[in-house]
Amino acid sequence: MRPKEKTKVFVTGPLPGDAVARLQASCDVVVGGGVASAAFDDHAETLHAIVSLLTDRIDATLLARAPRLRLVANVAVGVDNVDLAACRARGVAVTHTPGVLTDATADLAFALLLAAARRVAEGDRLVRGGQFPGWSPTTLLGVPVFRATLGIVGLGRIGQAVARRARGFGMRVLYTQRRRLEEALERALSATWVPLEELFASSDFVTLHCPLTAETRHIVSRERLASMRAGSVLVNTARGACVDEAALADALEHGPLVAAGLDVFEDEPRVHPRLLAQPNAVLTPHIGSADRRTREAMAAVAADNVLALARGEPLPNPV
Ligand code: DGY
Repeated sequence: MRPKEKTKVFVTGPLPGDAVARLQASCDVVVGGGVASAAFDDHAETLHAIVSLLTDRIDATLLARAPRLRLVANVAVGVDNVDLAACRARGVAVTHTPGVLTDATADLAFALLLAAARRVAEGDRLVRGGQFPGWSPTTLLGVPVFRATLGIVGLGRIGQAVARRARGFGMRVLYTQRRRLEEALERALSATWVPLEELFASSDFVTLHCPLTAETRHIVSRERLASMRAGSVLVNTARGACVDEAALADALEHGPLVAAGLDVFEDEPRVHPRLLAQPNAVLTPHIGSADRRTREAMAAVAADNVLALARGEPLPNPV
């Protein structure tokens, strides 16, 4: 940036809270309609920072159009929408929003787990459809949650928050991730490390809390789904591409799964038609972090990173 030049920021979509106003106080801000918009085209050449959403693909082609870009501040903890290697190659820093969405996402994972296990969405549809003839001992029998075994794939911040919630339900918690947690933390969370294959084979519920990387793409494969317990449930609030959706549809239709709770999809906003057709899949529109306080905090964190760039200070949340 030239001395005294205002930092020019493209915010790719409207943000909740006062993040945009805080940026406007010291930066030159354009709020546009995504990186595929005409507004982005108009400003790309002069931008120093982009505040991006997870729906914005930030790749080498885009970076080439923004030669002065110094920062991509993603309003998400996941950065699979950003080509990190391409950013590195161009000296563009990438920041994200860890920490502030942990509890909101864990809450939704648990909401989906309970809704899928106890057939809440099916029940809602049945009542609204005028098909509730009165109590019956056989209506919508679900699977028990209390004291069940929960397998957590990825025991980072969000996975740990889910494990803490599971304790309230007396659940046995298994987890898997590349690096085992320290023993004291495992004890505090009452979580037992097991290899990935064992986790799938031994859990009543499997919930995903891993980032999407080359290694975790389709980590829930046809083979792993087939190895799950009869009557088990899959919950995904991480990224859709962690799951082979066609294989999941088969596992819901023919077993061994009885239900799934899904907040994320491989090709958002498109949802696999066979998942849409499964009555035992509870589907929500990527709202894991969608409580007002959390979304405002995410926007604020992204703004803080841009403001740090503008002041020439270290970025608080580099990836
Ligand atoms: C994230 O931050 O990666 C979430 O998916 C947004 O809800």
